[in-house]
This record gives sequence, C-alpha cells and structure tokens, in this order.
Amino acid sequence: MKPKTIVITGASRGIGKELVIQLAEYSGHQILALSRNEAKMESDFEDFENVSCHAFDLSRDDVKEQTEKILSGIDSVDVLINNAGFLVNKPFLEITHEDFLTSYKINVTGVMETVQAVVPKMTNAHIVNISSVGGYQGSVKFPGLTAYSTSKAALCSFTELFAEEYKETGIAMNCLCLGAAQTEMLEAAFPGYEAPVSASEMAEYIANFALNAQKWMRGKIIPVSLSTP
Ligand SMILES: NC(=O)c1ccc[n+]([C@@H]2O[C@H](COP(=O)([O-])OP(=O)(O)OC[C@H]3O[C@@H](n4cnc5c(N)ncnc54)[C@H](OP(=O)(O)O)[C@@H]3O)[C@@H](O)[C@H]2O)c1
Repeated sequence: MKPKTIVITGASRGIGKELVIQLAEYSGHQILALSRNEAKMESDFEDFENVSCHAFDLSRDDVKEQTEKILSGIDSVDVLINNAGFLVNKPFLEITHEDFLTSYKINVTGVMETVQAVVPKMTNAHIVNISSVGGYQGSVKFPGLTAYSTSKAALCSFTELFAEEYKETGIAMNCLCLGAAQTEMLEAAFPGYEAPVSASEMAEYIANFALNAQKWMRGKIIPVSLSTP
C-alpha cells in the first residue's frame, strides 16, 4: 500500500484511539493524532514511531489556526478522519445555551474549520466525517439527544455541500453515521446499554473505509449500524 499521511481527531480514547493503533500498524503511514489530552496520547502511542501527538481543542475559536500550526511541517495530507465528538444527554428544556454552542462548535463548526485548514494540503485525498445514526434522516430518534443529534445531522449536510463544491477536484468527502459502539460516549448516551460492536471493531470498518472508499463514492452519508440504538 502507498504510505499515507493521516490526520485523526478525537484520538485519545474510544474509536479514535483504536483508529490510530490500527492505522499505525502499517509503519509506512504517518499518523497525526489530535485531541485535548496530548499526554495520554503520548503514553498510549509511545510504541509507534510513526505517530505524532498534538494538543487540539475543537471548542475554541481558533480551530483553523490550531490545525494550520499542527500541519506546518507537513507537505500533504491524504486522509482526514473527523472523529472527535461531544454528547450532551439532557431533556430538551434543560439544555443550556452553552450546551448548544459547545455541541455545535465541536461537532460542526470546529469540523468545518479543521477542513478549511487541511484542504490546502490535499490533492488526491479522502475526508471522512464521523456522524451518528441519530443524525441520519429517518432513523429512530432518542430523547435527550437534541443538541447532539441535530449537530450530527448538520455534519451530514456539510458532507453533501462540500462534495458538490469540490466535485472537480481530487478531494473526496464522505460521512459515516455510526450505530452503537462500546465507548465512554455510548455509556453517557445510553447508560448500561451493551453495544454489539466494540470500539476496535468499529475502527476496523472506518480505517478500511478511510483508506479506500474514495475510489467509489463521494458526498455519501452511510449508516454503519447493526442495531438500534
Ligand atoms: N460510540 C458510539 O456508539 C457512537 C455512535 C455514534 C456516533 N459516534 C461518534 O463517533 C465518534 C467517536 O466517539 P467515541 O464513542 O469514540 O467517543 P469518546 O470515547 O467519548 O471519545 C471522544 C473523543 O473526542 C475528543 N474530543 C471531545 N471533545 C473535544 C474537543 N473539545 N476538542 C478535541 N477533541 C475532543 C475526545 O478527546 P479529548 O477529551 O482528549 O479532547 C475523545 O478522543 C464521535 O464523533 C461520536 O459522536 C459514536
């Protein structure tokens, strides 16, 4: 396989951490792991010489600048996986202005600003947005997840809009709407629920998709779910 430079957000735990480990197993790839918890990533990925860890906060107003700084020594990026996410689980009337803002910053505007910073480094490349079945039109919906699921729906919409605007280029964007995978976020959304898929199993699908699917599809919004939720 041709070595690729791969940027993964939300790499400190859950699905993102498993993505880094699986993609780093091919030593040809260069992986940039991003999250707020740089020290944890440094420790978790210390065995991989091809992984560099970077502090990155999608809730701040300077996401584009943070991303540009992280990429300053990098010539080109082949794959960006926008995996980081934030979930608020509260009855609708209890959701605060801050909850809405944080959800939309981390799950929507922060992702778009990350993409703005990465696109100038891309030629033939694949951007994969990680959404949720909760943000997929027509799927079963769950109480308490208004801030989260509406923001994930916006991420689906962004995927279609970007794909249209970049259709004459080599830059493909697709969106995966994940079903339940066993992580801290799932426990926050559905306490006590046992997912049929582990974080590692979900990462295996995403890693293969991120490396290959741009050959066959663009602007697609794909549910990846065995179960409800
Ligand atoms: N697990 C599921 O069942 C499921 C279902 C549908 C969709 N998804 C989606 O899959 C993706 C991964 O979820 P997960 O279950 O692995 O979640 P997780 O275990 O809660 O991990 C979330 C990741 O996002 C990062 N993150 C959170 N806030 C951030 C911020 N302000 N700036 C930068 N990074 C931030 C966290 O890193 P730090 O806290 O270290 O910054 C962490 O690495 C998310 O987009 C989620 O919405 C998951």
